[in-house]
Amino acid sequence: MSEGLGSLYGVEGRRLTGRDLATAKKRGEPWAMLTAYDALTARIFDDVGVPVLLVGDSAANVVFGYDSTLPVTVDELLPLLRAVTGATSRCLVVGDMPFGSYQGSPQKALDNAARFMKEGRAQAVKLEGGRAVLPQVETLVTAGVPVMGHVGLTPQSVNVLGGYTVQGRGEAGERLIQDARDLEAAGAFAVVLEVVPAELAKRVTAELTIPTIGIGAGPDCDAQVLVWQDMAGLTPDPAPRFVKRYSNLRQVLSEAAQQFISDVSSRNYPGEDHAYS
Ligand code: KIV
Repeated sequence: MSEGLGSLYGVEGRRLTGRDLATAKKRGEPWAMLTAYDALTARIFDDVGVPVLLVGDSAANVVFGYDSTLPVTVDELLPLLRAVTGATSRCLVVGDMPFGSYQGSPQKALDNAARFMKEGRAQAVKLEGGRAVLPQVETLVTAGVPVMGHVGLTPQSVNVLGGYTVQGRGEAGERLIQDARDLEAAGAFAVVLEVVPAELAKRVTAELTIPTIGIGAGPDCDAQVLVWQDMAGLTPDPAPRFVKRYSNLRQVLSEAAQQFISDVSSRNYPGEDHAYS
């Protein structure tokens, strides 16, 4: 078990919940969240003790190869979610509601969140936005769906924001703080702060009783999240400024594939060890 929330993994072998994350905040214990989209990777992350896995709509980019998160659908995300929940037993798995699956109405949000919970076996959902989605958050929480909020740079609104730029500078910072407060009041159990000034994230974190999860939001959030392919160096350079590469999987995989090509063309693979008599 790696550090971070280790003390919250109970002996009873159950999954973590939003309540455990609230306890971590009270104790001042920071924790890590990663995205996951398939069974093998999710199991590795669960085994090493990543407490929260997000089946992000970033699957649009890193799984399906779209140029933004907008095209990905509930039907595309559900099999990935099922794979991640099926392969894990300890982490809290959050399903990210894609563009168009919740904005229209609280009822639409509930219908799609119910699919995430029933068909995808998610333990919680995430949706983007502040005051505009409060009725959705209230409806979901009342119906028994734990909700993670997401403010700051909300990639589903890239066409309104005009690009993937820092949010919450100047007066916009006060509006963002109010959005975060409102999400907490509506019942959200945590809120992602994406690409906002570090000082603003520190203020939001101090004001809220629910955990803040930073991505490009500085060191003072209660938790940090990265897309796993960014974290492990599988996505190509350049990475956004906030990404730290913990490995170079792009190079590792390239070298493995080159070696395979070379072995096959030189008849070095398969050898006797790999053949059946
Ligand atoms: O979809 C995603 O990966 C996300 C995280 C980066 C927060 O929303």
